[in-house]
Amino acid sequence: MICVQPIGVFDSGFGGLTVARAVIDQLPHEDVVYLGDTARAPYGPKSLPEVREYALECLDYLAAQDVKALVIACNSASSAVLRDARERYSVPVVDVILPAARRAVGITKTGRIGVICTQATANSGSYDDAVAAVPGVELVTTPCPLFVEYVEAGVTSGAELMDVAREYLLPLRAADIDTLILGCTHYPLLSGAISYVMGPDVALVSSADECAREAFAVLNDQGLLEESHRQAELRFLTTGSPELFAGVGRRLMGGFVSQVEQVYTTA
Ligand code: DGL
Repeated sequence: MICVQPIGVFDSGFGGLTVARAVIDQLPHEDVVYLGDTARAPYGPKSLPEVREYALECLDYLAAQDVKALVIACNSASSAVLRDARERYSVPVVDVILPAARRAVGITKTGRIGVICTQATANSGSYDDAVAAVPGVELVTTPCPLFVEYVEAGVTSGAELMDVAREYLLPLRAADIDTLILGCTHYPLLSGAISYVMGPDVALVSSADECAREAFAVLNDQGLLEESHRQAELRFLTTGSPELFAGVGRRLMGGFVSQVEQVYTTA
């Protein structure tokens, strides 16, 4: 029997589903095992050492599932563990930050790039580090903590959300950026509201899409792509309630979310 190793995708909660969907769009024959640490989400308001501890527990759990690559589908976790994770695991580790920063630098015409993200990602300075060596780029960072709460509650539109979006984003519009990085994987689910407020002249860069492109490139370059044109299997794991995960997951992503199991990442 041929055994297909899955790609492990990890996020604090539902946001990484945007990455998982992009991975499946770009790599439709690859099995994916997704782990959402919903029992401990959100990560954004937590300290970086705490995020690091939780993220490594979750990544250790996924690594033990015999995955062929790990995708850290969470900017906050990538900010906290990326370097450690690359040393800790024998499989390739793909993150969201470097691919998104690279794409934004490629797109901007004025060099004025905005990034919206969690407080943990903003505190880490990881996007600043990612563009530090690029001459002529100025980064404006705005934490948008309430956005994650809306997504985790399955809310992606409505008057209240639009008010919050204006409050966070109008200062960025005034800062005259021409490119905006959605530096939290929950935010692509709010891209309707975000692009409505930012207007047509600001290009949005989704860390989810860029991360999936990077996953394709890394697997291709390392000869790890699945060669058969088989139908992939998807598994969804949560540290919280599987019913809740399936309910919110389906509300956000439709029938794509199936087979939800509960796991405990700690002994
Ligand atoms: N989706 C995550 C990110 O990209 C984290 C959101 C959270 O748990 O606060 O940062």
